[in-house]
Amino acid sequence: MMNYSKILGTGSYLPEKILTNFDLEKTLDTTSEWIIERTGILKRHIAADHETALSMAENAARAAMKAANIAPSEIGMIIIATTTPEKMFPSTACLLQQRLEIAGCPAFDLNSTACAGFVYGLSIADKYIRDGSVDNVLVIGSEVMSRVLDWTDRSTCILFGDGAGAVLLGKSNEPGILSTHLHADGTHKDVLYLDTSVGKPIDVESALYLKMSGNHLFKLAVNILDELFDETLAANGLVKSDVDWLVPHQANIRIIQAMAKKLDLPLDRVAITLDEQGNTSSASIPLALDKAIRDGQIKRGQILLLEGFGGGLAWGSALIKY
Ligand code: UT7
Repeated sequence: MMNYSKILGTGSYLPEKILTNFDLEKTLDTTSEWIIERTGILKRHIAADHETALSMAENAARAAMKAANIAPSEIGMIIIATTTPEKMFPSTACLLQQRLEIAGCPAFDLNSTACAGFVYGLSIADKYIRDGSVDNVLVIGSEVMSRVLDWTDRSTCILFGDGAGAVLLGKSNEPGILSTHLHADGTHKDVLYLDTSVGKPIDVESALYLKMSGNHLFKLAVNILDELFDETLAANGLVKSDVDWLVPHQANIRIIQAMAKKLDLPLDRVAITLDEQGNTSSASIPLALDKAIRDGQIKRGQILLLEGFGGGLAWGSALIKY
């Protein structure tokens, strides 16, 4: 009998504090109107001082385990995608493993795959479940982007938010994850980066904050996603009308609209949290997925196309029968 992996449960965590566009108008040379028109974002959640990638990951993971009815002792691997980890090491995943009291199973972070981190994690988890070595994997995206933003730079700080999303991926006899497709192109390394480094002496001023050439990245994103969708559908012998839901990385509503158009999907078949959460990097896909599932929009048996892209460039997709 074939092994497949399936989404057994999902969970989210969002910090209580909300920062609106109107709050940003008070400190930056910007307007809510500009932000909404160019990005689709109305507000974003911001972590309190005591909240971290670990604490948010734990909350999201416990919600996903509860939804899946899986106990911590049944978890065989923990993968946390985060560009804002608890520490350089040990990994945020090891720290979570300790909190869940499940010593022994492999646990690691995907730190540098940025906004593509969640689909990278899903792909790895799927392979381990399919080859029969693990039954249940926690795949989590957790980010405190607010701590790596230059709050005086209006071209970046308006875009991002904090939060965590988790998926409990488990063994199944029926197809769940149909395929995953991962890519990277380091020639675009300067389009989006965070220079914090131990490989060379740190220039404190420039190394602490995320830097992005937004307009350049926007154009790259639309092209790579267009090709990625073709690749993903072709690999499964499917056509765009077979896709029930697009669950995209939440970077910009104009990119999301372009991708929905590419699939001939109305926007009410696209999981969108961008308006309320901003861009939460590797957390954005599981957060959007969890919301659409809990709202009763995404239903069992439907075909979902997940896509993520970001610094690297790194990008990837997953086609899933939910
Ligand atoms: O998660 C990783 C993936 N991230 C992305 O994919 C981000 C992709 N990029 C974007 O979402 C968009 O490029 C942005 C939303 C970041 C920017 O939108 P844009 O339409 O590409 O604007 P732009 O960068 O070309 O800037 C247009 C103008 C500039 O002024 P000038 O030079 O035309 O006078 C900017 O200085 O808008 C100005 N601007 C702002 N104005 C008001 C930039 N940020 C702001 C702001 N408020 N917050």
